[in-house]
Order: sequence, then structure tokens, then C-alpha cells
Amino acid sequence: MSIRPIVITGEPVLHQRAAEVTEWNDDLKDLVEDMFDTMDEAPGVGLAAPQVGVGLRVFTYDYPDDDGNERRGVIINPTLEVGPISTELPDEDTEAEGCLSVPGERFPLKRAEHIRVTGLDLEQNPVEIVAEGWYARIFQHEFDHLDGTLYVDRLIEPYASMAASAVEEFGWGVPGCSWLPGRDDIDA
Ligand code: NI
Repeated sequence: MSIRPIVITGEPVLHQRAAEVTEWNDDLKDLVEDMFDTMDEAPGVGLAAPQVGVGLRVFTYDYPDDDGNERRGVIINPTLEVGPISTELPDEDTEAEGCLSVPGERFPLKRAEHIRVTGLDLEQNPVEIVAEGWYARIFQHEFDHLDGTLYVDRLIEPYASMAASAVEEFGWGVPGCSWLPGRDDIDA
């Protein structure tokens, strides 16, 4: 197991479509193990492979339900069905989203309340998850990563400009920026 550096917006792998997994080998197993370790250390509720610099369609998630029951796993080569997205303005308190690749920042964003995600686990068994609320938000966020979209790309004004200013202020938005969970103290 090891914790991998998380790349920050501007790194090209975050902004392009990730490739389908076609080889189910030890490299894939190591990647998924390291993604769990990195997600836990960050900590985050989800992590997509491009965030550790690997352009493959893989994400992990960890979001226990209100009773503390585990909802944790990996989805490989996912498909996502998304319900309607409200056209109301996002709530700054309850709909503020964050991303480990834009660390320390949060901005509100409307997402679909309901989703259905399917894909494969590490043993190539089919996975299907129907989710709502914040759990549904996580899958929309992680799936976006696999298509090269960050949540900040979806923001409306004034949040889009605020996010752009933050990226510029930190010197991000160019290749080569990353942080290491457990070493760099970033309140993501
Ligand atoms: Ni993210």
C-alpha cells in the first residue's frame, strides 16, 4: 500500500477523457489499493484515478449512510444515469462541493438528486448503485473526473469567477502541481 500524490487542476490528465480499463492486472490492483489509501488519508469521500495521475476510468468512494453502515467500493468503467437537475440557485451551505484536485476550496453547485451508476469491481463483477442526495452527488462528481470535467468547470457566477481567482492565486491551472496527503496539510 502507498499514498500517491494528488494532482491539482492544470495537470492535463485531469482535463481529458480517461481510457476504459482493458487489462485486469496487478497494476490495476495496486492502483485501486493505493487509491483507497490515498482517499482515506486525504481524507475524501471519493477519488478518481486521474487525480493520482492515471488516465483510467476508475473511481473509489467511501460515504457511510446516516446509520454508519459502510458504503465503500471501487467502480471500473462506469456508466451513469442522471435524473433531472433543478434550475434553482444552489444553496451555499448545503450544496457546497469540494475536490481534492482543487484543495481547500468549496463552491455551491446544483446536482441531480437521483442517479444510477453501473460498472465493474476489481473482480470484474457487475456493480449497480442507485443513490440520492449527497451520495448521488459523489458519483456525479467522480464520474465527471473520468470525462475530464472538474466541478469548478460547472459552476455558475459568481462562483465560477471566484474559483478561477482562487486557482490563479495559488498558482494552479498549470501542469506540475500536486499535494501529498499525510505530508501536506491542506484542508480540502
Ligand atoms: Ni474531485
